[in-house]
Amino acid sequence: MQQYWWQSTVVYQVYPRSFNDTNRDGIGDLPGIIEKLDYLQELGIGAIWLSPVYQSPNEDNGYDISDYQAVMAEFGDMADLERLIAEAKQRGIRIIMDLVVNHTSDEHGWFVEARQSKANPYRDYYVWADPAADGGVPNQLQSTFSGSAWQYDDTSQQYYLHLFSQKQPDLNWQNPQMRQAIYDMMNFWIDKGIGGFRLDVIDLIGKQPAQGITGNGPELHHYLQEMNQATFGNRDLLTVGETWGATPAIAKLYSAPERHELSMVFQFEHVGLDEQPGKSKWDLQALRISELKRVFAKWQTELGDQGWNSLFWNNHDLPRIISRWGNDGQYRVKSGKMLAILLHMLKGTPYIYQGEEIGMTNRVVHDISEVADVESRRMYAERLANGYSPADILHSINVKGRDNARTPMQWDATEQAGFTTGQPWLAVNPNYATINVAAALVDPDSLFYTYQKLIRLRQNNPIMVWGSFELLATAESVFAYKRRYQNETWLVVNNFSNEPQQIDLPAEKVETVIIQNDETELTSLANLQLTPWQSFVVKVAESDDN
Ligand code: NOJ
Repeated sequence: MQQYWWQSTVVYQVYPRSFNDTNRDGIGDLPGIIEKLDYLQELGIGAIWLSPVYQSPNEDNGYDISDYQAVMAEFGDMADLERLIAEAKQRGIRIIMDLVVNHTSDEHGWFVEARQSKANPYRDYYVWADPAADGGVPNQLQSTFSGSAWQYDDTSQQYYLHLFSQKQPDLNWQNPQMRQAIYDMMNFWIDKGIGGFRLDVIDLIGKQPAQGITGNGPELHHYLQEMNQATFGNRDLLTVGETWGATPAIAKLYSAPERHELSMVFQFEHVGLDEQPGKSKWDLQALRISELKRVFAKWQTELGDQGWNSLFWNNHDLPRIISRWGNDGQYRVKSGKMLAILLHMLKGTPYIYQGEEIGMTNRVVHDISEVADVESRRMYAERLANGYSPADILHSINVKGRDNARTPMQWDATEQAGFTTGQPWLAVNPNYATINVAAALVDPDSLFYTYQKLIRLRQNNPIMVWGSFELLATAESVFAYKRRYQNETWLVVNNFSNEPQQIDLPAEKVETVIIQNDETELTSLANLQLTPWQSFVVKVAESDDN
């Protein structure tokens, strides 16, 4: 089987707006990322997933692009971006560009043209429909950001489709000229020496709105194969698609190498486990660890030898994992280490979201005026109109809102966490005085060094990259599994709870401790009482009948 660089690397996601501000406007920028490349090299990552830095009016923080070939002025200019690519390369780090091709901004030149008239040559780059017989919306499709997915346009008296905000009109992938324009643009970026693409909501490009189909449309894989051939197909690039509805069978369609589509996808099955089934992300329920184990085990085994997994707890759309499924109080660092070890020991490419490596937590808001995110703000207005109480809605936002991940990166204990010397665009988390990079770097027991060690282990141990996976039967709150590769076996044990837990693995003869998050002596695994959030990986000797 052919092996690729992206199978044994670890990717770090930078959300530029919140990473590091060098010109005091309160907004992170490209020179700010360059300034921190040595830090990222020290961590050991091999690639940066760069959230969108293209020109954008920022309805959705850059996920609404108004010019694919220009850099957002707040972030810098093209020369800065070229310097970032070159400086990163010198440190062995590739830049993965986040690319949004399901939709553009309504301020993109194509849409400005398209809405001029039905006869405009760009009209068909977007999705238009006549009003229904009663003059209302063409059908019941809903926007992810609340309300109808259709927006009426006075000039031509038709509706256009926006699966996100009305300032994010959907592109019409059925139009071959539009597709070619996208491929040309992608080649412009490939020629700049980037390391790949993260493709935003790529599962939506095969949409057939008239039939009410959005995700996984019939032409989706045809478009991706065409894109692959026209752009990155013969290049050594990492491509990762964001695919909310993927099952393992669907993920194989995207990532089986012989199909020539993408390197891998982000699947979100685990992410939905604390949501009430069939409802929205805001309708909360407690996580059941048994479900988490079942879902991870399914993806590990079903994508075992075909396709490739991506591994993540966090990104710019998700709450901070330590606040979500760990313990952001007494066990913040310990639960953070457990979550890191659990994830990085799985098979697939791990992704770290900025601040995860120092254990950043959710930031609590008390009023909607403190919320910047378009998704949360729209949901708030909609639910308020539907009779929910402000306290209920704010609770959902505090648990699941996207601003949780977007508060500025906490670099040190100086004012504004060292992120800016101006006023940050979004308030910093008040816990920056204790949770910050400077503090983590001087503490050999910090979470940072657990991440660093996990990355180094991956580089030096093919078992982490290629080993098979087996889930072990244990108590509900213990997540234990084995990886096996060429006569070597690693046992990974995690206590996913605030309470001690018992395990009993008398047959396992510990040869070496690979990594652990406390001081427990691990000579025998018979009747072992795990401490809260304890995590360890040991190399074990397996007898033949094991
Ligand atoms: C997914 C992105 O991750 C999210 O931040 C964005 O709002 C939507 N796609 C729309 O582009």
